[in-house]
Amino acid sequence: MKSFTTISSVIFAVFIFCLAAWCCGEADEDVAPMEKTEKEALYSTIQGFVGNWWNGSALYPDPCGWTPIQGVYCDLFDGLWYVTALNIGPIHDNSLDCATNIDFRPKLFELKHLKTLSFFNCFISPRRHPIAIPSNDWEKLAGSLESLEFRSNPGLIGQVHTSFGLLEKLQSLVLLESGLTGKLPTKIGNLINLKRLVLAGNWFTGTIPESFGGLSQLLILDLSRNTLYGPLPSTLGRLTSLLKLDLSNNQLERMLPSEISNLKNLTLLDLRNNKFSGGLTKSLQGMYSLEQLVLSNNPIGGVLACLEWHDLHNLVILDLSNTGLKGEIPKSLSKLKRLRYLGLSDNNLTGKLPTKLVTLPCVSSLYLNGNNLTGELNFSEGFYGKMGRRFGAWSNPNLCYQVGLKSARHVPYGVKPCQQEEVTVLEPDSRNKLAGENLNQNSHLVASLGFPSYVIDGFWWVSLLEMLICQFLSCFL
Ligand SMILES: *[C@@H]1O[C@H](CO)[C@@H](O)[C@H](O)[C@H]1NC(C)=O
Ligand SMILES: *[C@@H]1O[C@H](CO)[C@@H](O)[C@H](O)[C@H]1NC(C)=O
Ligand SMILES: *[C@@H]1O[C@H](CO)[C@@H](O)[C@H](O)[C@H]1NC(C)=O
Ligand SMILES: *[C@@H]1O[C@H](CO)[C@@H](O)[C@H](O)[C@H]1NC(C)=O
Ligand SMILES: *[C@@H]1O[C@H](CO)[C@@H](O)[C@H](O)[C@H]1NC(C)=O
Repeated sequence: MKSFTTISSVIFAVFIFCLAAWCCGEADEDVAPMEKTEKEALYSTIQGFVGNWWNGSALYPDPCGWTPIQGVYCDLFDGLWYVTALNIGPIHDNSLDCATNIDFRPKLFELKHLKTLSFFNCFISPRRHPIAIPSNDWEKLAGSLESLEFRSNPGLIGQVHTSFGLLEKLQSLVLLESGLTGKLPTKIGNLINLKRLVLAGNWFTGTIPESFGGLSQLLILDLSRNTLYGPLPSTLGRLTSLLKLDLSNNQLERMLPSEISNLKNLTLLDLRNNKFSGGLTKSLQGMYSLEQLVLSNNPIGGVLACLEWHDLHNLVILDLSNTGLKGEIPKSLSKLKRLRYLGLSDNNLTGKLPTKLVTLPCVSSLYLNGNNLTGELNFSEGFYGKMGRRFGAWSNPNLCYQVGLKSARHVPYGVKPCQQEEVTVLEPDSRNKLAGENLNQNSHLVASLGFPSYVIDGFWWVSLLEMLICQFLSCFL
């Protein structure tokens, strides 16, 4: 027994000795060997963003090995380690914070295997320390850079340089919510490997370059929240892979080009808050993958019935409020069985509501207010109860609801009962009250797609059941 303990002690001692020898033997060399220039370039680059106090060689002597830097990723090329990804900004709890006075060090462009470069919430002081993206040297990263992203950097100002157009391997270019100005560089159209181009929430102006039509692999194009003007270039019809196109909140104008009907895979088209006109183009009908079509607040004009709406049978959200539409509401809208949000408010729609509209199985928000619809509303009491204020029919002076609703709470808001047509049902007082209340339903588009908030005891089950049926149906439609 004793000898066994001795032997195991010896084995243990030998093991410890070997371990120590292995550790000491390796300590002189880097566990993750790097070129000296690569290491220095990394330290200098980061120091430029976090401040001169940061002594990389002291704090992180082996940045691709046993002293990793948060946000830095490395990879092995011919037996040496190189930086492949650099994420600057407070992404994780222990990420390095950016300094107030940041500078792009020239050595950034010497990281020759850099694939991903991203900045989040780093340039945050537009008044005191505005910083421009450097104009030179981007071509040095052309052989490797696949993703370049700046998100939430209000202190990042100036123009996007045409040299970005040289980054031919780029798959993702995101310049989101920064203070960038000027025109969109035509050269961006050369980045033929781009899958995502997001330039939203800046101060970009001018027209959308025709060259963007060359981005044939693009899946997402988001230029929303800028001050772009002019017509949509017809070349956008060449972006046949596109899944999402968001150009909302700009000053874009004129007719939609007929070529957009080539965007057969598009699921989202958001053009709200622009100045598009010239009527609903027939070409919208060809975009049969569309799930969200949002055109609200544009002087589009024309008649609603000019499209065969049933072709767009994947639609879940259709918002055409305040688009200057005339004419009747066509029956074909009631074929959109997946529809959850239908906004037709503040137009000039006339005539009777198609009775089939009652049969939309999934609808949870329906706005018809601010038109000149006539006749009787023919929805069930349960429908009014379920929808609450998400059924809008007020401000249609010639519309009424069928009397006999059992509960006053299930009366459609702001609509008079049919029976008393000769009498003015709404007192002047209550009329003012209606007009005064702020029912700003458009700004809550997404919020209102949730469960009905106006739910009363017994209707809870009915609503739940309808939700389930909807889910069931939409799986098989
Ligand atoms: C950084 O640290 C190294 C090693 O501790 C030291 O030699 C060097 O002088 C330091 N550099 C600065 C700028 O403090
Ligand atoms: C459209 O989507 C389908 C199915 O996802 C895909 O097979 C097809 O290649 C896409 N079309 C284009 C032009 O990308
Ligand atoms: C609706 O049409 C009438 C008569 O054509 C016109 O006077 C009115 O300005 C239109 N309203 C809207 C909101 O387009
Ligand atoms: C609403 O339609 C009626 C006829 O249905 C018409 O007499 C009236 O002028 C229209 N009102 C507006 C504001 O267009
Ligand atoms: C209302 O709809 C019901 C069932 O869909 C139908 O029987 C009835 O005739 C309709 N009433 C009116 C006034 O359209």
